[in-house]
Amino acid sequence: MGLIANGVHKVNNKADLTEGDFSRVRKMVYDYCGINLHDGKKALVRGRLMKRLRNLQLGSFDEYLNYVDEDSSHKEFLLLIDILTTNKTSFFRESSHFDFVRDEVIPKLGDRPVKWWSAGCSSGEEPVTMAVTLLNELSAVRQPPVKILATDLSTEVLHTAKKGIYTEDKLEGMPKHLLHKYFNKETTDKTSYRVKPNVQKLITYGRLNLLGDWPMKGPFQIIMCRNVMIYFDKGTQRRLVERFYSLLEPGGYLFVGHSESVTNKEIGFRTIQPAAYQKTGV
Ligand SMILES: C[S@@+](CC[C@H](N)C(=O)[O-])C[C@H]1O[C@@H](n2cnc3c(N)ncnc32)[C@H](O)[C@@H]1O
Repeated sequence: MGLIANGVHKVNNKADLTEGDFSRVRKMVYDYCGINLHDGKKALVRGRLMKRLRNLQLGSFDEYLNYVDEDSSHKEFLLLIDILTTNKTSFFRESSHFDFVRDEVIPKLGDRPVKWWSAGCSSGEEPVTMAVTLLNELSAVRQPPVKILATDLSTEVLHTAKKGIYTEDKLEGMPKHLLHKYFNKETTDKTSYRVKPNVQKLITYGRLNLLGDWPMKGPFQIIMCRNVMIYFDKGTQRRLVERFYSLLEPGGYLFVGHSESVTNKEIGFRTIQPAAYQKTGV
């Protein structure tokens, strides 16, 4: 518990995240979702968890981690995971990927059902960009069935994604003509826009830990897993890339973040452009 001063519970704002505490957090997070919190992340971990200690009126990280361990509902553990994930994203992030999808993938789709996956979708900007790019290229007469699966580990970002409401500052990357075509201005809050139902209905949001079982069936034509694997170690990245490969159709595409790369081309990916790979073979 926190320090008691004049009968009032006082939380120790200077609680120290010891090496032992940090190793405990590190192991919990790595074992569960593969995120590799290296030494440089210690201050970030301390800063983010400190708020939780304050809310719970706990005086040390040791007490907090015991609390996490003892919570049989696992709610606190999942909250800890949510707090420690990095969810930075934006519309048309690394836009050359969407140019490629528009120019090379969509024209060759034919009438086949569209099946794409945004793995690690954060608050929805990536799958919404996929949906908008697709809708803007489809003609009014050619409307194949479309399913864009969008998954993330964090329930908090998924909640935002499902609402589909974004403030103007978040919409900076969205070209004006697409903003007006695929978003409605909110009537109550004039600085926010809501994704139109015809876009949102193409996207199925769900919680999925990439390290766990994947209940969905492929094959997908596109998998985007961008700026997610950067948090994983090489072994985890490799296993994931192999799993993505097996869920793609032959000729399907895997997009990763520009600071990530797929080095194991021996499993059958060829590089199409930076951070974009095509499945060769069957
Ligand atoms: C930096 S965001 C990237 C969002 C988007 N893909 C982009 O490039 O803009 C990384 C996302 O990966 C999610 N994530 C991290 N580890 C994960 C895991 N093991 N399974 C599923 N999602 C994970 C985080 O919750 C976070 O929302």
